[in-house]
Amino acid sequence: MIELCASILASDFAHLADEIAAAERGGGTIIHVDVMDGHFVPNITFGPPMVKAVRPITKLPLDCHLMIERPDDYIPAFAEAGADMISVQQEVCRHLHRTLQHIADHNVLPGVVINPATPVDTLIEVLPIVHYVLVMSVNPGFGGQKFLPLALDKIAYLAELREAMGLNFRIEVDGGVAHDTVASVVQAGAEMLVAGSAVFEQGKTEQNARELLRLARAAAEPADAEVAARGQ
Ligand code: DX5
Ligand code: ZN
Repeated sequence: MIELCASILASDFAHLADEIAAAERGGGTIIHVDVMDGHFVPNITFGPPMVKAVRPITKLPLDCHLMIERPDDYIPAFAEAGADMISVQQEVCRHLHRTLQHIADHNVLPGVVINPATPVDTLIEVLPIVHYVLVMSVNPGFGGQKFLPLALDKIAYLAELREAMGLNFRIEVDGGVAHDTVASVVQAGAEMLVAGSAVFEQGKTEQNARELLRLARAAAEPADAEVAARGQ
């Protein structure tokens, strides 16, 4: 099932509750929270207090993407604050299997993220214990960057591995997902689509989300979408 994960990094923070409500009305089903520490990535964003503040204003699951060093130290605080899903970057986890188990032990769905330069094969041993794999389609740190097409082969390869290994983890993609790239990521096999600027730009959040989802669903099921559009 295609899901739109609205990345609040690109939202109007002064009206965050309204922005989240608009993304939800437009069909967004997950709220993506980008946590950056100024070390792993050259930017600083939110911590557990932000997750705690967002938790009561929406029923949607909160997907916390930790772009931080030493994620193990912070997993309990994010879980306590209300995270439903936590993903960690493969590049910072010396003991990735343990870290993913640590997330699951806190009753949070574990995910693993790979940067554009990190091969999918580095994840093979942990695929059986993840709920989702996030393929970065930009180098992490900032919203509004250009989509890197190298992510497409990685998404397709993950879908193949999932089939071959008899697993059911989900495939998420993050970075530069917009009206001009969304069909390609869906066709490659991504089903959790993170979008920041494409959802929150120009104060038209609800409309943007709806349009992005329409394009994504049309790419997933071209025939069904045509029938739905004809009202049959
Ligand atoms: C980038 C973040 C993304 C970011 C995506 O490091 O992980 O989630 O918000 O922003 P857009 O959709 O604008 O590329
Ligand atoms: Zn992200």
